[in-house]
Amino acid sequence: MASADGVDPRPIGVFDSGVGGLTVAAALMRRLPHESILYLGDTARLPYGTKSPQTVRRYTEKNVSFLLQRGVKAVVVACNTASALALDDFPAPVPLWGVIEPGVDAAIARTRGRVGVIGTESTIRSGAYPRALCRRRPELEVRSQACGLLVPLIEEGWHDDPVTAEVAGRYLAPLHDAGVDTLVLGCTHYPLIKPLLQRLAGDGVALVDSAEVMAETVARAVADGRIRPAPDARPQHHLCVTDAGPHFQRIAGAFLHHPASLELVEV
Ligand code: DGL
Repeated sequence: MASADGVDPRPIGVFDSGVGGLTVAAALMRRLPHESILYLGDTARLPYGTKSPQTVRRYTEKNVSFLLQRGVKAVVVACNTASALALDDFPAPVPLWGVIEPGVDAAIARTRGRVGVIGTESTIRSGAYPRALCRRRPELEVRSQACGLLVPLIEEGWHDDPVTAEVAGRYLAPLHDAGVDTLVLGCTHYPLIKPLLQRLAGDGVALVDSAEVMAETVARAVADGRIRPAPDARPQHHLCVTDAGPHFQRIAGAFLHHPASLELVEV
């Protein structure tokens, strides 16, 4: 619980289906260096991106309950698929954010009129990004592309690999032909291959991922008192996974640049 001196040592909860949300966790660690992060990677049930809205909602409810039971003071749903499919009227006793709006904010700030969106099949099928983009700027041209094979390749750790480059190149071709100037990485796994995607998209295309904007959103909530800040001490980061695949710890270690303990959990 929050203490009388106005600080709150409880962690900020972050979840994704796998390693992808670590991109958001890492941005939070950079932006709010005293806040502890409790990360849940639902690796046993990955991928979410091919599942129905009902199933993704059920998993999301379980993951949020898990984080709340562990005593988090806020929840970041660092999974585009869960954010797109499961957060309407989502009840939560603590501040809770999804990653769609931060991604849309960043895209709107950068685009000259043509936006490409890549994501999982379920996220693209939901239409969440074009809806949110056109609500804000109806004149935008939005092209979406589902990229079903990228998540497995990224979970496999093939981040700078000719196979991944070949696959990603095929997915990006129609967006390139459509002349998009801004590309929304509508899956939290994709920033892990950002250099590759930037190379394929070309220097003139702005790549947008929601991690930095999400971290800014949470920092604002700390600044305006919706969340009390952590004490001025070394944070404790903790990673939970529902299945201990061989790649998670390696990718987490390489990517987070912060020590974090790892625990196998059931949700
Ligand atoms: N990282 C997740 C997202 O942002 C999806 C990966 C999966 O399919 O589970 O959509």
